[in-house]
Amino acid sequence: MEIRYFENREELYAAASKHFEQAVANGARTFGLATGGTMEPLYENLRNSDVDFSAATSFNLDEYAGIPKQSEHSYYTYMHEQLFNAKPFAQSFVPVGDVDDLAAAAREYEALLQANERDIQLLGVGENGHIAFNEPGTAFDSETHVIALTPSTREANARFFSSLDEVPTHAVTMGIASILQAKEIVLIACGENKRPAMEALVDGTVTVDVPVSVLNNHPNVVIYTDLKLPVAVK
Ligand code: F6R
Repeated sequence: MEIRYFENREELYAAASKHFEQAVANGARTFGLATGGTMEPLYENLRNSDVDFSAATSFNLDEYAGIPKQSEHSYYTYMHEQLFNAKPFAQSFVPVGDVDDLAAAAREYEALLQANERDIQLLGVGENGHIAFNEPGTAFDSETHVIALTPSTREANARFFSSLDEVPTHAVTMGIASILQAKEIVLIACGENKRPAMEALVDGTVTVDVPVSVLNNHPNVVIYTDLKLPVAVK
């Protein structure tokens, strides 16, 4: 696990954007993508860069259940506004959230993932340590599945909706096993509200109570953070 600490967020996001530009230049063609506030400056940099994703394929981490893709709140819309409209991929997949049989759709999404190993998986982290929408307690061998969002995740995401009541109660998410299949994982964590989760990660104790801690089991993780984290003494 390599921690790249930046005091200055502009520099952090410039470096993270370069990471992706370089990866494409070096032949990476399959990307796992994330949404959320953390990713907006990264996508802004990529939009304004020369990067060319037209030969690449992307798979998003998650989508809210019950939200049609055309909704302003869907991650489908987010990705188009933040990245795909400006930088189209050859193919982009975002889980669907508004079908009758979500579990079947999740299985289909997982089959797609199994046929397309990700070169890089981009991740943010929830205040409670979730990665994608794998909330605390999610099994490490989980594949794409439907999950109930915790009250704290719904509260954290209420800022994107007009009220807490509007925040969906469930989501479909890549599982932890699916995420760990990527050759490289790039995690971005900015802001003091992410400190408890990040300190639990660098502490090195792997526990389902803090899903991000599972990254200790992956051989190739790069973290971009503006948090000065204690280095674990083993
Ligand atoms: C988004 C996702 C989530 C977010 C996390 C942090 O696709 O999978 O795990 O990365 O909730 O969200 P922000 O960046 O809004 O703090």
